[in-house]
Amino acid sequence: MTERLADTPAGIARAAELLRAGELVAFGTETVYGLGADATNAYAVAAVFEAKSRPRFNPLILHYPDADSAFADVEASDLARRLAAMFWPGPLTLVLPRSEASRVTLLASGGLDTLAVRVPAHPTALAVLRAVARPVAAPSANRSGQVSPTTVAHVLSELEGRIAAVLDSGPCPVGVESTVLDLTSARPVLLRPGGVTLEAIDAAIGPVGTGKPVSRPRSPGMLASHYAPALPVRLNARCVAADEALLAFGPPLAGAGATAQLSLTGCLVEAAANLFASLRALDDAGKNHTLRAIAVMPIPETGLGVAINDRLRRAAAPRQEAT
Ligand code: TXA
Ligand code: MG
Repeated sequence: MTERLADTPAGIARAAELLRAGELVAFGTETVYGLGADATNAYAVAAVFEAKSRPRFNPLILHYPDADSAFADVEASDLARRLAAMFWPGPLTLVLPRSEASRVTLLASGGLDTLAVRVPAHPTALAVLRAVARPVAAPSANRSGQVSPTTVAHVLSELEGRIAAVLDSGPCPVGVESTVLDLTSARPVLLRPGGVTLEAIDAAIGPVGTGKPVSRPRSPGMLASHYAPALPVRLNARCVAADEALLAFGPPLAGAGATAQLSLTGCLVEAAANLFASLRALDDAGKNHTLRAIAVMPIPETGLGVAINDRLRRAAAPRQEAT
């Protein structure tokens, strides 16, 4: 059953308590209702993808009660600080390089080295975020492919029974998602139009690009749009060679040069939570030993397995030139 929480100090405290315990709680923001999870908890973030039935691990927006806490998780440029001073709290999301100190789980950023951060302009959301005192990942609180919800009734029509609680703070005043601005390349690039208009941003900082950002990959597998390991990926492995790394799902095949376990018990939520960290661990192992590929054991095409296989298939596909 999904708990309905009132917009009261007790309701806010309960929402924060559930979030800190790794549960999913939907809450209103000025834009749309978000499906919140503790962004430092990979299991909680995996559960978000499962509840939404998202077929892909898209990077999620991280929510904070103020700019100081947001900028602890990213490398904030002067431009980012200026934009934050002008538009936060408000419907503007900034994409910036992840900071060394950040404890945000890789799954929340789809494995990327950047994070999308924002401070919502909603008193109830801000109170929850202050009480949680951790970054909260919150995509819109709808099933994948459906429209973003702006009332509790919309949230419950799709997520009733799939999430721990929903905090009712009334209808969302803005009604469209936040504007997403990528600040990782020399020129800011609009990734998604939203609550803050392009005109308002132009007036504040000058012209903004609207094409694809041209961020330089940090390693061969590191493209702007998704993370892929540097080692080639071989799917549906039924055996493994000594010069291969093994990404295991269930009891591991014997004989690999290095092994990372997604889930010994075959739990897909656990596997999703471990996916990006495991790929990076095997890539690192490949730097010390001569490993020629990552062999991936079969993963069922059900539930979160769909998103896991999507990501692995894209990692296994022929590489785009990193230009
Ligand atoms: O208004 C909103 O932004 C709502 C409320 C709940 O805050 N949230 C929301 O989150 O719309 P979500 O997860 O549905 O949207 C995430 C958007 C996507 O377009 C995604 O591609 C982009 O932000 N995004 C997130 N992290 C990114 C990153 N590291 N690099 C590039 N784009 C990113
Ligand atoms: Mg959405």
